[in-house]
Amino acid sequence: MVSLTGKSALVTGASSGIGAVVAEALAAAGARVGLVARREELLEKTLARCREHSPNSAMWVADLADLDGIASLAAAVEAEFGGVDVLVNNAAMPKRRRVQDMPPNENDDVMRLNYLSPVRLTLALLPGMIARGHGHVVAVGSVAARLGPPHEAAYGASKAALTAFWESMAVDLDGTGVRAHIVQPALVDTDLFSLPGNEPPLSDLSDALPPQEVAAAVLELIGNGRFERYVPDWFAEMASGKAADVEGFIAGVKEWTRDRLRAVDTGTS
Ligand SMILES: NC(=O)c1ccc[n+]([C@@H]2O[C@H](COP(=O)([O-])OP(=O)(O)OC[C@H]3O[C@@H](n4cnc5c(N)ncnc54)[C@H](OP(=O)(O)O)[C@@H]3O)[C@@H](O)[C@H]2O)c1
Repeated sequence: MVSLTGKSALVTGASSGIGAVVAEALAAAGARVGLVARREELLEKTLARCREHSPNSAMWVADLADLDGIASLAAAVEAEFGGVDVLVNNAAMPKRRRVQDMPPNENDDVMRLNYLSPVRLTLALLPGMIARGHGHVVAVGSVAARLGPPHEAAYGASKAALTAFWESMAVDLDGTGVRAHIVQPALVDTDLFSLPGNEPPLSDLSDALPPQEVAAAVLELIGNGRFERYVPDWFAEMASGKAADVEGFIAGVKEWTRDRLRAVDTGTS
């Protein structure tokens, strides 16, 4: 396993789900971890678990949808930690809503939190990483970035935008010592599927993976320097299959969606 002893890491959305487990895994690998989210009590619980491994870990309560607050958040973390070696942009919101039912401001909200905010935070912390000649900038994307999920246009678009930014950034950072990575999870067992303001999920949640699998993928990418990792990894084949036959892919997803809507309606999902 990769050793992060002497390094500092910042994880957004560390109060629950994938972010909480990633933060703990980074602390267990030796990093001093900074945690960000809105729910203070939950963040304190993650912090206590991180401090068992890494006593100097710290937390910042912040609403990352407030883009104007991000520069001062980044400055506060750099002042406390003396620089950030690993940034994991994990915080995001779901949006399960058919396009024809979506108020336009919902799309704006999703893009703000899931795309604009991690890019702002990354741009705020990159100069320090480049000046020090090393760093890892990780994004938690989604298979939705590559596979056009039904009833999730805004969410999928936000993750596709993040992925496109990360692909270009991985090239731009060549020679700086800073690497860009993105993990693309499929279904993971978290609170993402019970948040208000969303349609019921179409997917069968009994297939959901534990968040530990995503944390392992994040550490794997930091260790091997690669750009992208699907969780589970066979989703890479689905993405390349879609790229080879987008018409067939859309026809297949239409059929799957009709079947799933019937199953959700009749309670047989
Ligand atoms: N679960 C899945 O199946 C799945 C699949 C693919 C990708 N993902 C991605 O995995 C990441 C983590 O999601 P999760 O599944 O672990 O869901 P989750 O448990 O709902 O975690 C979301 C995290 O984001 C934080 N967050 C939300 N809005 C925020 C805001 N305005 N400001 C600051 N923090 C905010 C939440 O903390 P507070 O509410 O305390 O602020 C929470 O810690 C997301 O990027 C998601 O898109 C999840």
